Amino acid sequence: MNIGLLGFGNMGKTHSYAVTNLNYFYKDLPFKAKITAVCTSHIETSKKAADTFGFDYASVNEDEIINNPDIDIIDICTPNIYHYQTLKKAIAAGKHIYCEKPLCVTADEAFEIADMAKKAGVTAQIVFNTRFLAPIMRAKQIIDEGRLGRILSFRTAYLHSSCTDPDKNAGWKQNRDICGGGVLFDLGSHVIDLVYYLCGNFKAVSGKSKIAYDVRRGMNGEQWNTNADEAFYICAELENGAVGTIEASKIAVGTNDDFTIEIYGEKGALKFDLMEPNWLYFYDTAAYNNEMGGDRGFTKIECVGRYPSPGGAFPGAKAPTGWLRGHVGSMYAFLNCVYTGEKTTPSFDDAAHVQLVMEKAYESDKSKKWEYIGK
Ligand SMILES: NC(=O)c1ccc[n+]([C@@H]2O[C@H](COP(=O)([O-])OP(=O)(O)OC[C@H]3O[C@@H](n4cnc5c(N)ncnc54)[C@H](O)[C@@H]3O)[C@@H](O)[C@H]2O)c1
Repeated sequence: MNIGLLGFGNMGKTHSYAVTNLNYFYKDLPFKAKITAVCTSHIETSKKAADTFGFDYASVNEDEIINNPDIDIIDICTPNIYHYQTLKKAIAAGKHIYCEKPLCVTADEAFEIADMAKKAGVTAQIVFNTRFLAPIMRAKQIIDEGRLGRILSFRTAYLHSSCTDPDKNAGWKQNRDICGGGVLFDLGSHVIDLVYYLCGNFKAVSGKSKIAYDVRRGMNGEQWNTNADEAFYICAELENGAVGTIEASKIAVGTNDDFTIEIYGEKGALKFDLMEPNWLYFYDTAAYNNEMGGDRGFTKIECVGRYPSPGGAFPGAKAPTGWLRGHVGSMYAFLNCVYTGEKTTPSFDDAAHVQLVMEKAYESDKSKKWEYIGK
């Protein structure tokens, strides 16, 4: 399977790592995948990427790659506002698509793309890589086994510190004109997806945005008015009645990649912290109890490098894991679906649901009212 990689910044590199190393992590793969072409906005960076990482050719024209009949898959790692047009062209060309989040910048665009991809019969997956961390996969198993019972509430947060320095220039992720939103799009999308994946469909949201630094230097180094949320807070209700909070922030001093999720059900509870990616914490009310507490308490489950076959062979089930392993798992899931024709998850439909939730949260921030999801 020949992949055309569009964008070679942090995520282009991450996807390239995943493709290149897939055979280490997944044993005896029945398919071979390689990145054939790369496209960035400057020919020097594109050529450097191709030379350094061994891609066949470099380009600054994505159309040339999308329309190349030898390319089977388009992998989209460009800034958010470009996704929609690229997606339309890639679907029209009949390519399978692996697209970074968020799928688009409006819900209408996202639903249109999900529909187009379905009608064209191409295999399409959104990159919600946190679903492929071993503890999140284990959490999904526990929930599907009914061991939490009815889910009552959740508390989630994705916290970075990258906007805490007022002397730092804004990047494109702080610029609504390129990002399409702010931290809600960048970090919040992952959290909304996991709440949706683990707890259920969203019913309504109440949102509040926060900009801590109104003025800073923009991408060109000149004074610039911040135009996108640096933090976003959501109170959400799900269709199953669960209620919880979602916080996304880049103004959290002292944080690195601090993603946490807590889910509380009638029969049990789960906790995960991305800064401690080896462990899932599970509280089971079915555990033996006596007046001294019995065996009650959160159990630290050793998820470590335990991936279902053929994924656990390297570097081994006991080897500590991290953020990158989730991306390798996500890439494997997608390529395996391209090869087998099975349905992808997370799909573009999932991506459109997340996009709608984010849009409603922004609407709620403006209207100061709860907004209902309605699709
Ligand atoms: N899933 C994750 O873990 C995760 C993490 C970070 C970013 N992302 C997403 O990945 C995407 C890329 O983010 P990034 O952090 O890699 O950005 P980046 O700024 O590091 O890289 C962007 C790349 O796109 C290229 N580019 C820009 N405009 C282009 C155009 N018009 N045509 C072709 N190439 C173009 C740039 O040259 C650069 O190579 C975004 O959608 C972002 O939301 C996902």
